[in-house]
Amino acid sequence: MNVLHLSAECYPVAKAGGLGDVVGALPKYQKQEGVQASVVMPFYNRKFTQEHHLINVFSSSSNLGQRVFDYEILKEEKDVLGFELYLVKIPSLLDREEIYCYPDEIEQFVAYQIAVVDWLVKANIQVDLVHCHDHHAGLVPFLMQHSSRFNALKDIPTVLTIHNGQYQGWLGWDKFYYLPDADTSKTGLLDWGGCINSLAAAVKCCWAYTTVSPSYLAELKHQANGLEFLFELEQQKGIGILNGIDPAVWNPAKDKMIAKTYTAASVVQGKAFNKAEICRAFGLDETKPLFTFIGRLVLEKGADKLADAIRDSLKAFDGQISVLVLGSGEKYIEQQLVDLKEEFKDYNVYIGYNEELSHQIYAGADFILMPSRVEPCGLNQLYALKYGTVAIVRATGGLKDSIIDIDDTDGYGIRFDNCEVSDIVKAIERAIYLYQDNKKLTQIRKSMMSLDFSWNKSAQQYIHLYNSLILQNGTI
Ligand code: ADP
Ligand code: GLC
Repeated sequence: MNVLHLSAECYPVAKAGGLGDVVGALPKYQKQEGVQASVVMPFYNRKFTQEHHLINVFSSSSNLGQRVFDYEILKEEKDVLGFELYLVKIPSLLDREEIYCYPDEIEQFVAYQIAVVDWLVKANIQVDLVHCHDHHAGLVPFLMQHSSRFNALKDIPTVLTIHNGQYQGWLGWDKFYYLPDADTSKTGLLDWGGCINSLAAAVKCCWAYTTVSPSYLAELKHQANGLEFLFELEQQKGIGILNGIDPAVWNPAKDKMIAKTYTAASVVQGKAFNKAEICRAFGLDETKPLFTFIGRLVLEKGADKLADAIRDSLKAFDGQISVLVLGSGEKYIEQQLVDLKEEFKDYNVYIGYNEELSHQIYAGADFILMPSRVEPCGLNQLYALKYGTVAIVRATGGLKDSIIDIDDTDGYGIRFDNCEVSDIVKAIERAIYLYQDNKKLTQIRKSMMSLDFSWNKSAQQYIHLYNSLILQNGTI
């Protein structure tokens, strides 16, 4: 079975968050299960593309309305990622450094999607199923089914994975002419709320959609940034599959980015060593429990509550805890977190994106805070489990599906209900009590490190879904 994944991110080529981690890992595990999985993503002018040999496998041109563009399909020559990687390069649209946030982002991602389907048709690429990730690939199922130019693809099953339903890829109807030879009688499939909504179009046109945790699938019917009713309508096509983690990248026994590797058997010494290193680097006291937050500083993550929750905790548990934050995002949240440094010696923050530092913090921290308002899956808590770091999570989405509270049978985390400062502070207090019970903490660390959140199980669930759609199609 040949499956093509379409995504804006894929680690280590380009990653802004969990989407990159998932698309960099899932195809590898699908390949181990016998599926010929490949990824096609936009070309970014970054370290990976500069350092690896990319060969041209196809060149052609297409158009965004009147604007004709040339495109190249490049392939990473040696399959260093464990699967075939293709990159769509379009001069002056897809040849830049950053992944997101350019003023012409709409044109960038629409051109990417058009180039991919154009390539599949013109080069007669044999694909059994197209797997689109998030709204950046959301117009593809529509293009495959309702554009006469891409008619050859109309019977190929499509799967959409929703990593984050908050972002939907909105286009004004004045951009409809971007979609080549689109069937004007089918515009209702693109529309949601008076504009072209790429994610809604994908939900309507795909053969099946998945969410990255079962709880998030249920939550989308009540909290989907305007798409709630659509998810209600289309619920029979939805399935929740929890993300996994890639132990080839996230494994304290082999991690080259951390100061000292360790296993469950050596977790006490291993974490102590890594904690001492990170505390030294950030001027923190290693004898106190180290709390951390890693992530995008945005409302979804509850990051707006962080500064107050940290201030209240540092005051309430005077001198008992250390806190370290790594993140970037909304400027006002960054500023709140930077300003806090003036007030407390037991607190520090690194504003920016730093992959290596994130590994060092997972390894060195005692607790990781995730007060998310919305968390479709969340990978931080899964990495924390692997590194013996106790996750303190708001019980939502994938956090609810992966973290059991220490007061429940076989629990290994701390859960709370509301994204409120008082709830976070109370959860931190529970963590301090746990920290004081050395024996229990060590036993919890050891048991969480032995849990299996690898991709094997989830990769099989996806393959099961693919098989059912392909059978439905009668092509294999
Ligand atoms: P999301 O994709 O919503 O941001 P996830 O929990 O799924 O959240 O994944 C976040 C990923 O991005 C994790 O691999 C996390 O370690 C990483 N990450 C987030 N912010 C940073 C940062 N500032 N520096 C390094 N890694 C980060
Ligand atoms: C999104 C979600 C996050 C999830 C990630 C990978 O960015 O916000 O919860 O873990 O995608 O699926």
